[in-house]
Amino acid sequence: MSSLKIGIAGLGTVGAATAAVIEENASVIARRTGRTLEVVAVSARERRKDRGIPLDRYRWYENAAELAVDPEIDLVCELIGGSDGVALEVVRTALAAGKHVVTANKALLAHQGATLAGLAEQQGVSLAFEAAVAGGIPIVKALREGLAANRIRRITGILNGTSNYILTTMRETGRDFASVLAEAQEKGYAEADPSFDVDGVDAAHKLCLLASLAYGCLPRFDAMRPEGIRGIKPVDIAFAGQLGFRIKLLGSARLTEAGLVLRMHPAMVPLSAPIAAVEGVFNGITVEGDRVGVAVFEGRGAGAGPTASAVVADIIDIARGLRLPTFGVPASELADRPMAPVEDLIGSYYLRLEVVDRPGVLADVAAVLRDQHVSIESLIQRGRDPEQPVTLVITTHDATEGAMSRALATIAGLPVVLEAPTMIRIEQA
Ligand code: NDP
Ligand code: HSE
Repeated sequence: MSSLKIGIAGLGTVGAATAAVIEENASVIARRTGRTLEVVAVSARERRKDRGIPLDRYRWYENAAELAVDPEIDLVCELIGGSDGVALEVVRTALAAGKHVVTANKALLAHQGATLAGLAEQQGVSLAFEAAVAGGIPIVKALREGLAANRIRRITGILNGTSNYILTTMRETGRDFASVLAEAQEKGYAEADPSFDVDGVDAAHKLCLLASLAYGCLPRFDAMRPEGIRGIKPVDIAFAGQLGFRIKLLGSARLTEAGLVLRMHPAMVPLSAPIAAVEGVFNGITVEGDRVGVAVFEGRGAGAGPTASAVVADIIDIARGLRLPTFGVPASELADRPMAPVEDLIGSYYLRLEVVDRPGVLADVAAVLRDQHVSIESLIQRGRDPEQPVTLVITTHDATEGAMSRALATIAGLPVVLEAPTMIRIEQA
């Protein structure tokens, strides 16, 4: 049985788990692949760190770029992370040396994916990234292969395990954002820079990769304006429940006549939507295709085992001889699609205002919404104490983003409004 020789650059949460899966599931993988997978070399920063795997059987490289040109290696796993620096150097060097590359690095691909995919094609090797999107869920394979016959109407998804874990735990325990984030970091879900998780950047990286697969276009992360979950308060989570919603960090991608729509922001999702039930570190993705209808994918979106499962699935594809363009179409044919203007997008909204409790306040707020043609769908105001601020919760009918943001700017400036308004979009996910 021939063997595929592998070098692993990066031995953290994902890298160490990848080496472990290859070792521990060797017999089942060999039976399915008809080849053996053999890790021959590794690289990380600190040689003496205990990684829970025996390192003495592998060649050790201080410099990961040197591992990338090791003549014995057929395939390099880049599991270091980061959109440039050493990760970029390792991937570029390995591809240029004619080696296949498997990576879990969505930041790198969101920024450099088209160029690297072009280099892989020139060199006749694979650049695969199943683990980069939604951890253990095979959504890349689903879009590139299983759903390849469809025109994709819409992709909606929870694509960051850390922020979903935080929102779920805040709702279940009433604990604050900071303490739940620390717990997610301890569990190995969070990125090296956790602001990527909670500010929607990591999920936006993933969404733009899914959009490239679905719409055959260049990754357009540069054109996205992700919003994260730092501003979500327990009070909003509680109101969402009362109104029949759950708050999720939601991504959505569509191709419209006005251009590509790529959104990443917290959203109120109806409790009846499949995605509302996706909790904890789980990710969930709904794909609507013109032939398949709606297909729902759910699974662990982060963590050692699920991510290593996806890394090794790509390695197995390559060992089997499967060669597909990174984004499903040749890199030279990836379209540079324009983005649809955000201010024209239509949706409905949840607003929470802390206001002075006195006659006419409601009329002032309603007048601003009226002037922007934003129609109120429901309104909650409870309590009566002229000495205390009162919470006003409004949901709206459909309005454009432009109208809503103009209304918000005016409302924020009203003397009776005591703190910055909270706005959360309502999505029929
Ligand atoms: P970690 O921070 O746990 O591991 C990073 C590894 O890279 C460490 O072993 C580190 O070495 C090594 N490293 C850092 N700099 C260098 C360098 N200059 N040369 C060689 N090695 C270096 O990250 P994760 O395992 O969590 O993430 C790896 C990749 O997987 C990232 O792209 C991430 O986005 C992606 N990913 C992670 C998921 C997760 O759940 N954690 C899920 C899906 C994707 P040392 O250990 O010595 O410090
Ligand atoms: N930090 C990421 C998450 C890891 O929480 O989803 C998976 O990409």
